[in-house]
Amino acid sequence: MNILILGGGGREHALAWAVQQNPKCDRLIVAPGNAGIAEIAECADLDILDPGQVATFAEENAVDFVLIGPEAPLAAGVADRLRELDIAVFGPSAAAAQLEASKAFTKEVCEVAGVPQAGWARFSDAASARSYVRIKGAPIVIKADGLAAGKGVIVAMDLDTALAAVDDILGGAFGDAGAEVVIEEFMTGEEASFFVLCDGLDALPIGTAQDHKRAFDGDQGPNTGGMGAYSPAPVLSPAIQDQVMAEIIRPTLAEMARRGTPYQGVLYAGLMIRDGRARLIEYNARFGDPECQALMLRLGAQAFDLIEAAARGRLSGARVNWADDHAMTVVMATRGYPGAYEKGSEIKGLEAIPADSSQIVFHAGTRRDGARLLANGGRVLNLTARGATLAEARERAYAMAEAVDWPQGFYRRDIGARAL
Ligand code: AMP
Ligand code: GLY
Repeated sequence: MNILILGGGGREHALAWAVQQNPKCDRLIVAPGNAGIAEIAECADLDILDPGQVATFAEENAVDFVLIGPEAPLAAGVADRLRELDIAVFGPSAAAAQLEASKAFTKEVCEVAGVPQAGWARFSDAASARSYVRIKGAPIVIKADGLAAGKGVIVAMDLDTALAAVDDILGGAFGDAGAEVVIEEFMTGEEASFFVLCDGLDALPIGTAQDHKRAFDGDQGPNTGGMGAYSPAPVLSPAIQDQVMAEIIRPTLAEMARRGTPYQGVLYAGLMIRDGRARLIEYNARFGDPECQALMLRLGAQAFDLIEAAARGRLSGARVNWADDHAMTVVMATRGYPGAYEKGSEIKGLEAIPADSSQIVFHAGTRRDGARLLANGGRVLNLTARGATLAEARERAYAMAEAVDWPQGFYRRDIGARAL
């Protein structure tokens, strides 16, 4: 098969690595890709937010299967356009991707479906939103309705912060994403992520993970896209996973199908667990980054068989072949991230790090300049390792981190510490 992956981060490097292991893959193209991906696949320069351009490229290159990594092409309708042309695609329609693109939409779907979630209300005028906040009191959670690059959620511990967040969001700080504000009850507990492949009807869990959102050790510093992750997440016991499938995932999929917008792709549920029960925090319509890197190392070549089964509506017979293993990924980022940082610093030492089925350096933001490898983003490398225990995976991942010669980079030293 000729396979096209859209995206160019560590998540897509991990997906490309897994797809490349699968004997079904004849030709692998990644758009736009990065320097690490270029070592295992062809990279194509393509506007992945333009459905017409992606479709033309797929036709011209006899692409049999398209795997969409990030949420933006989903929201832009790339999957819809490819399906119209009968090109197999993994990823939800724009209508189904609303489960990530609109928080109010998701709350409404989940309410109808009876999914356990935080109490909530939605507003488009500041006066009503402010009086609701005053009635409910702090702590309280204020969210921009739309996609806001991970910045649209304010967990307000006091009333002033909450009221300021309402004013910011409805005042246009997030553009169109802030046309509405969603206000939620503050939930406490332990957070974990649950990943499920969906084919519109059936659902297959493919792993659990926990990530580390703050920039620095001890959960200090600003929020980031994720500084490291491990899988499985011990807090998601088999019993809680059953509860999540029965009370959260299946009812959501049934309601999406009932609305005529069945969900196909990976559904990433962010969960809050307390007293042995999970409530939904939010859905994403894609794999987590960097959670995907840990999941792919665990699943290996079978990942593409499962992804293909989801895309072709054949999940009911699919099974995951679980190894009783653990994986961890440590993110190396450019100093300054998630604030301002410089691109273009040189990274050395990667040649000396062996890559095999138990450890690999996925590239998140890199480019080549001749023979030199340069940092080209905030999150730059994902040192990903697998082991019989989390401790073993962690030891391998940190040994790789220490072997990287990149003075302009930094990483957290405590990934997985809570689970150990
Ligand atoms: P989201 O983008 O919705 O995942 O929110 C980002 C983060 O905000 C989550 O990972 C949680 O840590 C926190 N959060 C979101 N909603 C709530 C809530 N209702 N109660 C407590 N924390 C929340
Ligand atoms: N690591 C969090 C996310 O991908 O949204």
